[in-house]
Amino acid sequence: MNKTFYITTPIYYPSGKFHIGSAYTTCLCDSIIRYKKLKGYDTRFLTGTDEHGQKIEEAASKNNKSPQEHVDYIAGLAQDLWKQLAISNDDFIRTTEKRHEEVVEEIFEKLLANDDIYLGEYSGNYCVSCESYFTPTQLVDGDKCPDCGRQTEVIKEETYFLRLTKYADKLLDYIDQNPEFIVPETRRNEVVSFIKSGLQDLSVSRTAFSWGVKVKSNPKHVVYVWIDALSNYITALGYGSKDESLYQKYWINGDEVIHVVGKDILRFHAIYWPIMLIALDIPIKFRLFAHGWYLMKDGKMSKSKGNVIYPEQLVERYGLDAFRYYIVREIAYGNDGVFTPEDYVKRINTDLVNDYGNLVSRSISMVNKYFKGTVSKTKHNHEYKEHEEDLERVAKETFENYQKNMDEFKLAKALQELSVLVKRTNKLIDDTFPWELAKQDDKKDVLASVMYHLIESIRVISILYLPFLLSTPKDVFDFLGVEEDLRDFSSIDFGSKSTYTVVKKPKHLFPRLDLEKESEVIKELMHEGKKEEPRREVLPMQKEIEFTDFTKLDLRVGKILECKKHENAKKLLVSKIDTGDRVRNIVSGIAEFYKPEELVGKYVQVVTNLKPVKLRGELSEGMILCGETSDKTLYIIEVSDKLLPGDKIS
Ligand code: MSP
Repeated sequence: MNKTFYITTPIYYPSGKFHIGSAYTTCLCDSIIRYKKLKGYDTRFLTGTDEHGQKIEEAASKNNKSPQEHVDYIAGLAQDLWKQLAISNDDFIRTTEKRHEEVVEEIFEKLLANDDIYLGEYSGNYCVSCESYFTPTQLVDGDKCPDCGRQTEVIKEETYFLRLTKYADKLLDYIDQNPEFIVPETRRNEVVSFIKSGLQDLSVSRTAFSWGVKVKSNPKHVVYVWIDALSNYITALGYGSKDESLYQKYWINGDEVIHVVGKDILRFHAIYWPIMLIALDIPIKFRLFAHGWYLMKDGKMSKSKGNVIYPEQLVERYGLDAFRYYIVREIAYGNDGVFTPEDYVKRINTDLVNDYGNLVSRSISMVNKYFKGTVSKTKHNHEYKEHEEDLERVAKETFENYQKNMDEFKLAKALQELSVLVKRTNKLIDDTFPWELAKQDDKKDVLASVMYHLIESIRVISILYLPFLLSTPKDVFDFLGVEEDLRDFSSIDFGSKSTYTVVKKPKHLFPRLDLEKESEVIKELMHEGKKEEPRREVLPMQKEIEFTDFTKLDLRVGKILECKKHENAKKLLVSKIDTGDRVRNIVSGIAEFYKPEELVGKYVQVVTNLKPVKLRGELSEGMILCGETSDKTLYIIEVSDKLLPGDKIS
């Protein structure tokens, strides 16, 4: 029977559109699971959305939606995105689903019945954004959240507590006896010192809001969102339901269970979750892989900074394979990485265009040119045999190193190992000068052997790319005429395929990208995020007025007929504006923002009953209305061209 392998992403908060950071965890998991499938594991891959809690309730109300409408919408976006990224999850759990909520209720009741949860009172600081409690010593700058820096709320409420203190030593023993439980080791050390610094019982219910799973025996409480969320890893397998077969197969009797999480949610997974499992008498079973973060040059991604990049944007412009490759290749195991447009373009150009793509097209074109498209394995001894044997050796070693790294979730390193083979294969061309061999009739056999080695190596390389690139390896197999059963790990040995007949004109795999131009394009895309939700500092509001005060203003549509610079004032423009009753001369302080010729023909809003004044010698018989940003830039408020000069504005 095949070994089982169950992998999970965290379940994402549906608080907005997912950027490349959220896609990172999911892409890592997807490449791992595809690798495990190639290794013959019986796999299961779970992702989903974490839909309860105060943060979601607040986000929904900001969008004028009910929480359910809000989460339905965003869970839909998440599912669409994962489809677009070809994520091969077997299940998608939403914590608002009945199959989950019902079991969470039972989990809570069970913990309560065992006295692992008890009723008490919590008073302290809570960060809604992180849905986390903090002790005074953990807070920064007085009362700010140590994780996200936002203001915490002081809450005082009746609450249930989970007895973390009771299980702290048991957990420490477990971590000690299972050195691979939390990787990388630095994260494991963080967890150990956190536990040793002293755990407190965890508040696991809230009464201040209602968007969550109600505590069955005391429904004024909702279950703390992390208790609810962490349970997803087993509720999605049917734990506590009528059909527990998946739970039995992948958890209880399963061989490997891996939770992949970002470093920010380590504590929840490394402390709360195993303690919940111990208290529920469920084997811990899982291992934790905590990865680093994608950051931007100026820190965290944020729409307001205009530095967010979304996966869809990169996929649409550069293709799915390029995106999937970049995202797992760029960050070293466990570390943070910085996304820059330049690195994105360079990474694709170097690894995919120059090294892999070029190797494929050069090799196929030579096989066509020198051998009408067909080459076979030969046993011939010749002067370049050593180079070929070296390539075979590198192919073998690459596969070993690649597996070792993949097994340890060092995906970027595995790809780096693969690059060694790609480079070594390219080097065979430099070593053997095929174009010179082609000129010598008695070197046909040597040339054939070199060509065979190139093509066979490309097959091996393409197999190793399978967990990462989706369409490219398949295209390459098609170009080379590789049979289905020679496209996986079972046929990875060099020489497994003995004859190749390649296509005449393979399609281009990866177009070369112009570094400067494409970096600009990506920067522009990053800015689009900012445009999506523009917010600015708001200037102080005016005192309230009566409606009758407002009606004193005579606002009319005007059409600018002429416009010129003011002769004596750099900042002023002078316009002739048709306001229906007559043509007015109006002076406005907008010369810094508009050229006179840009304004001619525009329909604008005009205050017509202001007492005329002379501004630097020019009569002004009204005022054009503008919007002013907090940095004092003015924009004319234009009006629909359905309105005519003189139409009233109210
Ligand atoms: N809902 C919780 C998880 C509950 S799991 C039982 C949560 N959700 S989240 O949407 O805020 O984060 C989900 C994952 O995305 C986390 O692993 C987090 O580390 C990851 N990332 C969010 N931004 C990221 C980057 N910029 N870079 C890499 N990963 C990041 O936490």
